[in-house]
Amino acid sequence: MKIAALVLCCILPVISAQLRVGFYSQSCPLAEAIVQRVVLNRFRTDRSITAALLRMHFHDCFVQGCDASLLIDSTPTKSSEKDTEPNFSVRGYDLIDEIKKNLEAACPSIVSCADVVALATRDSVALAGGPRYSLPTGRRDGLVSDAEEVDLPGPDLSVQEALPFFTAKGMNLNDMVTLLGAHTIGITHCSFIQDRLFDFDGTKKPDPSMDPALVTQLSRTCQAPGGSSDPQVFLDQNASFVVDNQFYSQVIKKRGILPIDVNLGTDRSSAPIVARFASNGNLFNQNFVNALIKLANVEVLVGSAGEIRKNCRVFNPKSSIPKPGPPKTPPPKKSPPRKAPSPPPKKSSGKKPRTPPKKPGGN
Ligand code: HEM
Repeated sequence: MKIAALVLCCILPVISAQLRVGFYSQSCPLAEAIVQRVVLNRFRTDRSITAALLRMHFHDCFVQGCDASLLIDSTPTKSSEKDTEPNFSVRGYDLIDEIKKNLEAACPSIVSCADVVALATRDSVALAGGPRYSLPTGRRDGLVSDAEEVDLPGPDLSVQEALPFFTAKGMNLNDMVTLLGAHTIGITHCSFIQDRLFDFDGTKKPDPSMDPALVTQLSRTCQAPGGSSDPQVFLDQNASFVVDNQFYSQVIKKRGILPIDVNLGTDRSSAPIVARFASNGNLFNQNFVNALIKLANVEVLVGSAGEIRKNCRVFNPKSSIPKPGPPKTPPPKKSPPRKAPSPPPKKSSGKKPRTPPKKPGGN
């Protein structure tokens, strides 16, 4: 049994997809150390970064695969994934920028933004008390980020309604229940639970399935509908910054916050999994590692697909594709200066000469 678990936990994911552990060991040996250092620095001043990264990773991987398409900024002509409602409160982009800046300084154009997100998430989970694990890398960055493509499950869905989103990505019920364990950290805006606190199913009363002490506590922070601000409350009221199995115990104690989390504890298919994780932290850790690796494998681009972005927020300009042609810095004598063979200077003004300079700048 133990050996089977080991195979599942540690060996299977390493050989799955075309990713591999230590992908950058030759091309950028310090890559993983650089990511880890920047994440650690941030975590020291902001423990909420783990939650930010976990959610970013999920929202990236579930739309077009783990290809960093979520990181792309919109342009005046094209709305990207991040400018859609489910992604408005995704945060942590600045940390990814910082990591990427450090990586570009050490080994330009080698480490993908998709791997940065996956590695940073992995490291931040360990810092928050969660399991440590080896992560296969070698993802490449996508060339498309389209607001229209964003279709993520909402918090009011039932377990049975949410499950198809996961099966569509090659995951099963156990994976979904496990990954929702990420709600062991982080926050939700009150707007997602207004009904539960103030007007459940049109009764003008709180949700009877919520622990009354929790109703009182949350109602103090969250305002009745109509308030202008949208405060936040922790998704796991117990150890709100620690990645552990406490989320499941809270669900069982009627202290789940989001409707989907509550349903995990009441749905006939997911309730036994919730009970097992609540009573066995090691089992949850082991499953969490497997599910996170599975998540990080979703529809990845490998080989020569996609690109390695230099700036995670924008696609590489087409001109950055290396092309034969004169380098920017003057070459040694061997190659004569590009303009040397040109016609006399007087003819090089005006419109015509503008055409040749396009080549070095490239397309
Ligand atoms: C059916 C699936 C899921 C639904 C409906 C869901 C829904 C939500 C909602 C509504 C929030 C609150 C967002 C806000 O108010 O800003 C949230 C937060 C969060 N979710 Fe999920 N989620 C799901 C699955 C996941 C998965 C698979 C992960 C990670 C593996 C995840 C990680 C998180 C984290 C860490 C937060 C806290 C974010 C923060 O503190 O900024 N969620 N989720």
